[in-house]
Amino acid sequence: MFSIRILMYIILLFTCLISDEQNGHRALHILQEERRKQAQRSVLISCQVTTNEKKFLKYLSQHGDINKFFFYESYGLYAVVEFSSSESVASLLESSVIPSVSHECVVPFKSRLLWLRNHSLVDSGGQTSGLVCQAQTTTPINELIHRISTQESIEQQMMSLTEASQLTEENSRLRFLVCSLLEDIATAYFPECTITPFGSSVNGFGKLGCDLDMFLNLDNIKGRNMRLPKSGLSLEYQMKRANSERAVTQSILSVIGECVDQFGPGCVGVQKILNARCPLVRFSHQPSGFQCDLTANNRVAMKSTELLYLYGGLDARVRHLVFSVRCWARVHGITSSIPGAWITNFSLTMMVLFFLQRRNPPIIPTLDQLQQLAGPADKSIIDGNDCTFVSDFAKVQLQSNTETLEQLLSAFFEFYATFNFSRLSINIRKGKEQNKPEMSPLHILNPFETSLNISKNVNVTQLDRFVALCQESSWLSQQSRTLNPKKSTSGKNTAMPWGLAALLLPLQVDGIKGRKKKTRELASERIKSLLVSLKKKDSPTNLMCRVRQQFIGRKHLF
Ligand code: GTP
Ligand code: MG
Repeated sequence: MFSIRILMYIILLFTCLISDEQNGHRALHILQEERRKQAQRSVLISCQVTTNEKKFLKYLSQHGDINKFFFYESYGLYAVVEFSSSESVASLLESSVIPSVSHECVVPFKSRLLWLRNHSLVDSGGQTSGLVCQAQTTTPINELIHRISTQESIEQQMMSLTEASQLTEENSRLRFLVCSLLEDIATAYFPECTITPFGSSVNGFGKLGCDLDMFLNLDNIKGRNMRLPKSGLSLEYQMKRANSERAVTQSILSVIGECVDQFGPGCVGVQKILNARCPLVRFSHQPSGFQCDLTANNRVAMKSTELLYLYGGLDARVRHLVFSVRCWARVHGITSSIPGAWITNFSLTMMVLFFLQRRNPPIIPTLDQLQQLAGPADKSIIDGNDCTFVSDFAKVQLQSNTETLEQLLSAFFEFYATFNFSRLSINIRKGKEQNKPEMSPLHILNPFETSLNISKNVNVTQLDRFVALCQESSWLSQQSRTLNPKKSTSGKNTAMPWGLAALLLPLQVDGIKGRKKKTRELASERIKSLLVSLKKKDSPTNLMCRVRQQFIGRKHLF
């Protein structure tokens, strides 16, 4: 009986894997688990620039086989090394020593963040050893504009932008490793807890340099509700009680935050923001360069992450459009890394998804449709909210919409340039505009907590800026001078900003709002020198308008 059950389980697992693989996408939880295991077998080592790669790897291999390694720079040189087994990591840690420091003391917390101190592994002569480092930061905007301007079509520009901005395999591994290092601290108190990334680190829309949202999951502890034993006797843990789940979350985060601050190697600037709607501990993880937000009991956000991951994997156009729109919004100051009345990347992504649901035929299904396709294993009720939707990509049949990315980008701007924000709400559950239930300037229904508005923070000024930029970009994206690359006499692209690149240059609306720092982000040296020559004569507003006019005018000349 037992073996038949195991056999059936294996067949089921196999079928699930096959159907996931068939569609080219694995369910997020499978991917997360695989990455988590890799991270547990990995160490993070601070090296010297003169480190000899061969000797370094030979030295580490004494502890076991290495599956994967890479070097990266972040205020110093670091190596991420993944071993084939966790025993190798244990052996490596066993052989590591506690640093001897004079005039100071160390907190004796041993972690998998190490220094390479063995001088014989360093190349002689103090020369850099030419190690290949993986980039962990995003391409500067000027460079990005230049790069995409050389592309042959707007479609290719958008794909190239995604390619240049998206998280790399290595960056993704590093994110899971940082979570795993944090998990080592949290499991000292709660041995069954896990810390996993959520948000843009894993939903498919993350760009290099985005923050690392981490979820401290204590459900494995809570999950052990025993069936009543035959004897009628059972033992219960004696546990402290609190007034609410929120109070429990706050106290756990407060203690873990304190430990991260006091004991966490490389964790600096720890802030406990416990009175926020979603309590969190924020800090910088210096060796990775990540800005980290640790939350607990935030299962709805995990569901939103899964949903975005699903939408991003259904049709390639979704991710390309989101990346382009996010980049466009960032360069024009519509979104910001500083919390405030700005539209967030999460809200912006919802706006793109809604727009894609409103195409004719729709490019992606509504959340209600995804809910209808859900199987029993997808059932999920969180705090009374039904968060059920299908997780198997293969079950979702898409309609045959053949619009190009170029058409969609232009249509996106037009859609929101004329959207009736004062009366209507954006609702990806229904895929239809609905009357606003409350008077916030921008109303985007929280897909899983439908009484909430995810863009409640946005004020009228910021919404107006967004609409004005959509109008301007919609107009620009229909101009033939924007739509066509300028060719040199040899027939090659001149790399003058055109297409998407032209939309990333300062627009008239930027100038009107006087965002002076935008001048630092100008796209090309040509425009920079133009600015210098104009600066003495013009007010900032006129200046930006003239730059734009001259830029558009000049495009005809090339
Ligand atoms: P970036 O960090 O800006 O790249 O995007 P992000 O998607 O990671 O956004 P953010 O770090 O602000 O939030 C992390 C995750 O929390 C999001 O992906 C959502 O899943 C969730 N989230 C963010 N804001 C809200 C909100 O207002 N309501 C709800 N329900 N979830 C949110
Ligand atoms: Mg984030």
